[in-house]
Amino acid sequence: MSTGALWPYLIAPSTHGNDSQCAVSAKGHRITFADGSEVLDADSGLWNVNLGYGNEAIAAAVAQAATHGSYLHSFRFENTYARKAAGDLLAVCGTGHYARVLFSSGGGVANDAAMKLVRHYHALRGRPERNLVVALRGSFHGLTFGGFALTGEDLGQRAYGVDQRLIRHITPNDVGELRTLIARSGRQIAAVVVEPVLGTGTVPLTDDYLAELVRLRDESGYLLVADAVATGFGRTGTFFASQTWPGQPDVLLSSKGLTNGTVPASAVVFSHEIADAFTGHDAILTHAETQGGSSVPCAAISAAVAEMHRLDAVVVGRRVAARLDAALDDLVERHPLATGVTGRGCFRTLHVGGPGGHRLSPPGVAHLVGAIRRAGAVVHPGPAGVQLVPSLTYSDAEVDELMTCVEAGLDALLPAARPAGRR
Ligand SMILES: Cc1ncc(COP(=O)(O)O)c(C=O)c1O
Repeated sequence: MSTGALWPYLIAPSTHGNDSQCAVSAKGHRITFADGSEVLDADSGLWNVNLGYGNEAIAAAVAQAATHGSYLHSFRFENTYARKAAGDLLAVCGTGHYARVLFSSGGGVANDAAMKLVRHYHALRGRPERNLVVALRGSFHGLTFGGFALTGEDLGQRAYGVDQRLIRHITPNDVGELRTLIARSGRQIAAVVVEPVLGTGTVPLTDDYLAELVRLRDESGYLLVADAVATGFGRTGTFFASQTWPGQPDVLLSSKGLTNGTVPASAVVFSHEIADAFTGHDAILTHAETQGGSSVPCAAISAAVAEMHRLDAVVVGRRVAARLDAALDDLVERHPLATGVTGRGCFRTLHVGGPGGHRLSPPGVAHLVGAIRRAGAVVHPGPAGVQLVPSLTYSDAEVDELMTCVEAGLDALLPAARPAGRR
């Protein structure tokens, strides 16, 4: 243990400096920590290392750009790395619908940029009164001031002075509430921003809800934004989760798997309709970042897209998901604490019952995550259970190993008198 200069994110100061939480290196799907432990990572880093750690092609592309491009930016300039990455990304998003890519440096900042983009778009179309942005309750769009305002979980926005006056939150998958909001305020709404599968608890939007979001978009004129920061790059069984929607979103946000986690980057991909509004007025969007669209992240993006194709990662990930599904269903069938599974593809939540048949409490979740870690795997804490977010490149044996660790963790929660792991 050594409490040093580092202030780590989102953990209590009393727990800072813990070597078992301090990663040293990672390879494949395993992380080595400063206390010498090596564990299976079932969190894909932070849902971003979709192709496993140590992908050599991406590392080589980053090294090449750092050596030959060092730092070439996109701030009143262009660079060839950014041009290529934009083209590569657009090709997987679909050039029939999407026209342009604005680079950014993270998921929260991409949401900030998207909010500016949609409001500016409507202003250019002569509708400046459309300035409300709608998001879903329970959603997560980052912790920058814009992304934090959109985020539909209460994470203390008020205490930080986050301005949510032009934000509205509605209940996911509640078609009635969506219709009521549109009927009441439809003419002021610039955009509806949704995660295709809400990351907190991995809650997919239903087909009915998506159909209505698209129909009302076409009828009432708001823009539809898919925050696919977490649900891109094969995470849920297609390249982007929104590719199965009945109509394509006007704006698609990507990050996480975009560079396989190697360097910070995100992208705001937008439609011909939006691009035409800006080019028609020769309008400048006031968004720029020193690191956004620079040579190194853009080289990583092109390499990550190429590796997704070379490894056939979407298809490979579907196989991992099928094995995981079967094992999770089996666990829910057999284990008294496993109460259900939500999510899609390699983006899953195992719901776990607490004492007396109640939902597992936050301390209970922390206890479970710790027990699974002691059994050999890192999983993500969920609202009342654990989230399993394996890389698309897991082997069958790694899926089985993960499930053994999860079951051992559940067994550790059982009252001591109970026979371990069985009803
Ligand atoms: C859907 C979604 N949007 C935005 C973010 C924020 O991304 P970042 O942490 O890169 O700002 C996240 C991060 O988990 C996310 O899952």
